[in-house]
Formats: sequence, C-alpha cells, structure tokens
Amino acid sequence: KPQLLIDTDPGVDDALAILMAHAHADIAGLSIAAGNVGLDHTVRNARVLLDLLGSTAPVFAGCATPLVRAAEEDAAFVHGTDGFGDIGFPEPKATLSAESAALALLRLTRERPGKLTLVALAPLTNLALALRLDPSLPERVARLVVMGGAVTGHGNTGRVPAEFNIGFDPEAAHVVFEAFPSFDLVDWEATLRHAFDDAEFDGWLAAGDRRADFFGRVVATARQYNAKRDRRGLIAADALAMAVAIDPAIVTRRETRAVAVELDGRLTRGATVVDWAARLGRPAQANIVLEVDHARFSAMVRRALGAQG
Ligand code: BDR
Ligand code: CA
Repeated sequence: KPQLLIDTDPGVDDALAILMAHAHADIAGLSIAAGNVGLDHTVRNARVLLDLLGSTAPVFAGCATPLVRAAEEDAAFVHGTDGFGDIGFPEPKATLSAESAALALLRLTRERPGKLTLVALAPLTNLALALRLDPSLPERVARLVVMGGAVTGHGNTGRVPAEFNIGFDPEAAHVVFEAFPSFDLVDWEATLRHAFDDAEFDGWLAAGDRRADFFGRVVATARQYNAKRDRRGLIAADALAMAVAIDPAIVTRRETRAVAVELDGRLTRGATVVDWAARLGRPAQANIVLEVDHARFSAMVRRALGAQG
C-alpha cells in the first residue's frame, strides 16, 4: 500500500480524494492549506472526515494566506461557505496536532525517507514554505503528485488561463515547480475529460455505505452550481490526482515537459506555461497526465464510497 502525505484544503473533491486514500492507501498525515475556504474551515473539515472514517491520521494546520499577495478569490461559491456544502456538521472530535504543516512535512519525510508520496490537492503554500526551510525535501519523497494548472490555458478562475490551486498562490507554485526535479501534474483540463456521468455517480451514491451518504450530502451544493452553468457530469479534480498517487499505472497517456508559473501578467498571473516544443532549454520536470484508465478510476471511487467489494 502506498503511504501518502496529503496536503489539502477540504473542499468537496478533497473529501472524495481522502475517502479514496483511506480505502486504498495508508494516510501518513493531512497537512491543511487555505484555499477553497479559509483555514479554520479546511482544518475543521479534515477533522470531520477523520471522524467519519474513524481514522487517527494526524492533522497539521498550515498557512492561512498565500506567501506574497492576498488571494483574489476563494471557491466558497462552489464548495459552500464552510467548504463542505453548509450541512452544519457538529464539532469534530479528531484532534489537531500542535505542529505546523510545513514542519510536519519535513519531519515525516525525515522519519520515512523515500517512502512517502506527497499528494498536493490545494494551493502550494505549505509545500513552498517547507522547501524554503529545507531545500532537500524533494530527495526524501518517493513521488510528488500535484493537482493544479491548466496546460492549454482552459483555467477555472477569474484569470482565464489560471487554475484555482495555482492561481490562489502563484509564488508558492513557482517555488515548488522550480524545486522538484520531477513530479506528476494532474491539471484541470484532465479533470474535465475524466468527469463522471451524473446518473452513474448517483447509482454509486445510492449503492454505497455511510461514506456515500456523507459525500452525497457534501457534494450537493457543488452539483447545483455546476448544473446552473450547464456543466454536465461530476467533476472531481482532487480525486483524479489521488487515483494517480495511489496507482501510477492508471496513467495511459502522459507528456513530460518543462512547466513554469506566470507570476505577473495583466490577464495571466497564475497560468501554467508549458514549454510544449522544448524551446527554452529548461529541464522537463512535469509529467503531465493527459489520460487515465477511466474504468479503473471509477472502480477506485466506487470502492471508496462503499459501493463495491
Ligand atoms: C482545485 O481547486 C479546488 O477548488 C479543488 O478542490 C481542486 O483542488 C481545482 O481547480
Ligand atoms: Ca483541493
């Protein structure tokens, strides 16, 4: 079983990704970022999930703001004001560690060198901070999988080509993209190609156990938002990245290219610039995931919801 260190801002699709991690891997820890909603909510939501799963995985709170500039938007309009569909879950029991996220990332990777897969499902603030404290971090992780970017400029934020996780904290993404010699990049556009059919997903929710019940409630607001925009299918960005983290063999098509983050730009701050034709002479560090085995991805999600096996 892979051992995962998950940096996350739950968040509806983060929740599904964590359910998958619990079903198919060992969770070494959850480091929490601000992003979809504020840090107080994302920390609380992580603890709500651990209660649901009966998991004792440690939770570490991270940075409440981006590294340099204030964020221009959050994603409460998709995920609900509390990030979990505004259900009003009772105060969770799972404890919050006193250690801060960046320090925990460094400590855990020192304790288990070469063993942990880092799964980044949020703005990259905590990872960037950890890298500034200790640039040798990349040598100690087995793999890094990042959910972020929009490799041909079809983003999902107010800045047209920027995807949310990168656009929220471009400087942090820049630090991470420059520091890791190799990582898997699951971008927003791959996510759209791997959305789940609505009726099929409803079938899984109906057939699943209390995890399905929980996720069905949490995802309802996001589904309404998407339906109003005529977006069909259940989009689960972080779940796709988690599938790649759990089982690298699920990737059926990838391109390895140099990817940089635009830090300026009147219309393009936060864009991921892919050197498709290798003109810049930079090392190609990003394994861009273009396609996965969708049937296997679906099976992983179904099992995580208790709807199979
Ligand atoms: C990413 O942004 C967040 O809203 C999601 O949780 C995902 O990590 C998609 O752009
Ligand atoms: Ca996320």
